[in-house]
Order: sequence, then structure tokens, then C-alpha cells
Amino acid sequence: MKISVIGAGYVGLTTAACLAQIGHHVFCSDCDVLKLNKLQNGKIPIFEPNLQEIVVRQGRAGRLLFGSTAEAINHAEVIFICVGTPPLPNGDADLSSIEEVAQVIAKQARGYRLVIEKSTVPVQTGGQLRKHLSVHGATTLELDVASNPEFLREGSAVDDFLHPDRIVIGVDSKRAADMLMEIYEPIVKGTFQCPLHSVCERAGTPQLLITDTNSAELIKHASNSFLAMKISFINMVSNLCEVVGADVTKVAEGMGLDPRIGPAFLNPGIGFGGFCFPKDVQAFIRIAEKSGCNFSLLREVEKINQSRITHFVDTIREELWTIRGKKLAVWGLAFKPNTDDVRFAPSIALIRMLMDEGAVIRAYDPQATEKARELLPMIKYSANPYEAAEGADAILIVTEWAAFGALDWGRLLSLVARPLLIDGRNMFDAEKVTSQGFHYVSIGRSRKGPATKTIANDFQKPDRLVSALSDPTA
Ligand code: UDX
Repeated sequence: MKISVIGAGYVGLTTAACLAQIGHHVFCSDCDVLKLNKLQNGKIPIFEPNLQEIVVRQGRAGRLLFGSTAEAINHAEVIFICVGTPPLPNGDADLSSIEEVAQVIAKQARGYRLVIEKSTVPVQTGGQLRKHLSVHGATTLELDVASNPEFLREGSAVDDFLHPDRIVIGVDSKRAADMLMEIYEPIVKGTFQCPLHSVCERAGTPQLLITDTNSAELIKHASNSFLAMKISFINMVSNLCEVVGADVTKVAEGMGLDPRIGPAFLNPGIGFGGFCFPKDVQAFIRIAEKSGCNFSLLREVEKINQSRITHFVDTIREELWTIRGKKLAVWGLAFKPNTDDVRFAPSIALIRMLMDEGAVIRAYDPQATEKARELLPMIKYSANPYEAAEGADAILIVTEWAAFGALDWGRLLSLVARPLLIDGRNMFDAEKVTSQGFHYVSIGRSRKGPATKTIANDFQKPDRLVSALSDPTA
């Protein structure tokens, strides 16, 4: 099918490239002319694994073109809207970009158009979009509006698009449903050439859910808010673990063994960031409260998340006594590994708070340095983790990049002013780090060590277990 995608950001570019990959003829537009020029030369302005190769390959095959929104609207009957919906100061989603696209469609489109919301939007946006297009559109415009929310995680967006757990389609007509099922048929049937076959992890076919647009819009906000709630829940529990001498990693592991809970999104840490969870939780609360519903539960989820940065700074202060003048190596700036995105990243708020207390920061991130520099031009950025660690009074793990797990500890020990590693993502094994000569502090594990001697590792050696039980001082 011929398909137009409006918006070439993390969602739009992934959507356009993957729709071309599964065989469609896609025209992708963006209002940023500089970005368009880069894309037309096969350069993508974001770091997203596997995306660059697909954009180049599909561009060469003539299945992926880039140009203006006006051209996109003429290119196809199917139009995916993938523009940003950032939070307004009061937490509402800013839908002005959506309205701008609707204006161009209304002014220009003739004949049938299926307009599909891929951007995350508040419930009932589909109805507003339909009304706007019906009022301002040409009399010859025959319209369907659908909701097809994205469930892409940055860092695995291509894999998530091509191998989704579920495809949610919110439609109000059979014609729209049939067209969307035709669009996704290669994915549902698995009949496309997967560019990730060597790394593709998912097996099984995705579940296709067809519902109305309001329910589809709500599925997105409710899903993200639930995942954010899981994270805040384990972060809340981790605070208690620190005080009573439990290990939150073991608590999360034990909880996750219940299939009704599951292990995913129970990793405690410095909190959730990114351009989705923070804004989606805010927008969901705003929608609910404007509809007269009490969403105080999600307000607590937000509060717990915001408190993670302060809690982490308190931990740093507890270890260093004072922060003023201390040299701190910040390892990780992106809001999560395998992306260069620093939007709403915990690192940004943390660095600002540490600098307010007079800390001297040197930061390193494998991908996100340039984007972080736009927000924090005043700090020093290092070319590698060792350079950041030179003379450091503490190394702070803020993003759990795999590369941090494969370092030369001896070299690090020779570089730091103080062998202290404070792990905001619990990515390290405590014993391994302490055996390398570092004092190790992490999230949700008592500073003073577990209240009772763990005998877990004795289970492999029953004789030691018996001796430990018979002689507790052993
Ligand atoms: C999220 C949703 O996962 C995805 O389905 C949706 O389409 C978009 O929003 P994304 O924001 O890319 O994806 O990242 P995700 O992997 O969900 O992580 C979000 C934040 O939560 C990151 O800052 C991450 O560090 C944090 N996180 C995640 C935790 O703190 N603990 C966890 O256990 C998992």
C-alpha cells in the first residue's frame, strides 16, 4: 500500500522505515527542513539501533521517500500522524502539532483519507480530529479517523515494531479496520523479510485487538502509566529495604516469580525518565481529573519518581559527608541504555541538583553527550569513563550501559581520588566491585549489609549450611 507518515522523530521515522521494510511504499515528512535534508541523504538524526540501515536500504529500494507534509498528504489515502505531543506546563498534552497537521489535511486533501493517530494522545482526541477535519475539510473529503498507538521502546523500537506483542487498532468503520489489517498483515502473518533475523528475539504472532478509538487511545496511556507505577512501587519498597536491611533485588526477584506480577519493570533505581512515561502519566492524570475522576494513585507514582533524585543525592551526601567541591564522575546521561535521548532523563535533574550543591561534574555517555550538552553546556564531558573518573571522589552510575560492566578496575582504581562507586541502577554485583577495591553503594540494599547473614550461597554446600545453622557465629 501507499502510506504517508507525518513526523520523522523517534516514532515517525521508525514507523516509516518499518512500514517500508514490510513492503509498503512510504512517504515520510517533517516540518524540520534540516532534518529532512539529512534524511534524504540517508543520515538519521537519532541513535536507534538498526534504524539507519533500514532507512538507507528502503530509500535505495525506492520504498521510503522524504519530503514536505503537503507532498505527504497527496502521496496516499493512508496518513499516520506521528508528531510530538509534549506536556504543557499544567501537564496537559500539547496537541498543537496534531492540529497543524489537521489544518494541512483539511486544506489540501480531496477524496478518501484514513487519518491514523500513532502519536500518544489523550482519549477523545480522535473525535476532536474527526470534527476538525469535517468542519474545515473540503466537501469532497471522505474521512475515517483511527487510533493505532505505538508501543515502541527507545533502544529496541525497530524490533518492537516488527515483532510487537500486540497491535491495537481503534476504528469506527469496517473500511478503516480492513485497511489497517492490510497494512499490518505482513507482521501478523510474519511474511516479511526481517532485517534483524540474527538478533530478533521474539517468537509467536502478535495479538491483534480491534476496538473503538477512545478505548485504543486509553490503552496506551493506561499501559504506560501501569508500567510507571510498577517502577515506582519497587522504588518505594527499595527505600524500606535500605532501612530494614533487606535486598530489594531479591524482593523483586521473589515478586516476579508470580506470573501475575512478572519480573519486568521491577528494577529499582534513580527513577524513570524519557519522553513517554513522565509525560504520559501527567497527561493521564490531567485527562482523568478534568473528567472528574480521582487519579491520586498516579500522583503518588509521580511523587515517588521525583523523590528518587533527592534520595540519590542524599545517598551521595551520606557517603561523602559534604558535596561542595567534590569531583563526581557521572556515568550515563541517556534516560536508559541504547539510546541518545536525554529528554526527562534523571541524569539532567541529578546533575543540576549536584551542581547547586557545588559539586564538580565530569560526565560520560556512549551516545548521549551531544544531546546532553545542549541542556548542560556548563559541565565537562569525557571521551570515555576513565577520563571522567580521573580524580573523582565518587563514580555515579546513572544509566546502566552494558559498556560500564566491562571495565579495567585496576586502571580505575589508579585514577580515582576515592574508590567509591554509587550505583543508581543496581547494575553491578556488590561482591565483584568490593573485591576490586571499591566501596560499593547501591539502591535498596542496606548500607550496613543484610541484617541476617545470608546463607543462600551455602545451599550448594549443605555441610556449610548445617554448620552455619548449628553454629550461627560460623
Ligand atoms: C516506554 C514503554 O516501555 C513503551 O512501551 C512505550 O511505547 C514508550 O514508553 P521507553 O520510554 O522507550 O518506552 O523506555 P522504557 O524501557 O519503558 O523505560 C522508561 C524508563 O523507565 C527509563 O528511564 C528506564 O530506566 C526506567 N525503568 C525501566 C526503570 O527505572 N525500571 C525498570 O524496571 C524499567
